[in-house]
Amino acid sequence: MGGDPVTRDPFAVLLAEYEDALTALTRLESAAEGLEADPASEPDRRAVRAILDVLRGAVRDHNEREERALFPLIVDQLPTGVFEEGHRALWTLEEELGRLLDGPGDDPRVASVAREIVDRLRRHIQRENEVLFPMAREALGPGGVQHLAASGRSPLAREQLIHYIAHAVAQPAADEWGDRGIVTVIMIMMNFRAQGRLGRLRGRPTRTRRE
Ligand SMILES: [Fe+2]
Repeated sequence: MGGDPVTRDPFAVLLAEYEDALTALTRLESAAEGLEADPASEPDRRAVRAILDVLRGAVRDHNEREERALFPLIVDQLPTGVFEEGHRALWTLEEELGRLLDGPGDDPRVASVAREIVDRLRRHIQRENEVLFPMAREALGPGGVQHLAASGRSPLAREQLIHYIAHAVAQPAADEWGDRGIVTVIMIMMNFRAQGRLGRLRGRPTRTRRE
């Protein structure tokens, strides 16, 4: 990834995040193969648990951001409902996988549910990347996406900012976000302020210097 998270093309952000998800799915698939050979394989169960954390964390956050920020902009022109249903089916499977991992250590259903998640999420990602995102970009207009990102009114960028702030405020300084999270928030806020965007986020003009 890389680039400015605020001004970067929102679709490039979504595509890059899904690349990370596909990498996680490759690992989940090989763990499922291991569990098909030996349902009690502890390293494979640990791998499934670690990837489930990614799915419930970063990937779910991605999908919820799509629903909050992107889908409302295009719902009149594109069939977003089927993608929302896809998210919910996936979340249900993730809950099931979590329950199974908390159960008996040799349950063969861990492998089968893991495989179902791999297949379902891969299809979902392919449909969004190859069909929904290009159509959404077109629906928003040739300059629309760039304008949204550049003006700071990109809902994805705004959601991202709110997400960072919520985490930095909610988490104690010693946790995984820690100082890095707070520095990130400050840098994003400075970026927004430097470009006169804070006022627009709040719905009023920003004063960039003392009068
Ligand atoms: Fe999605």
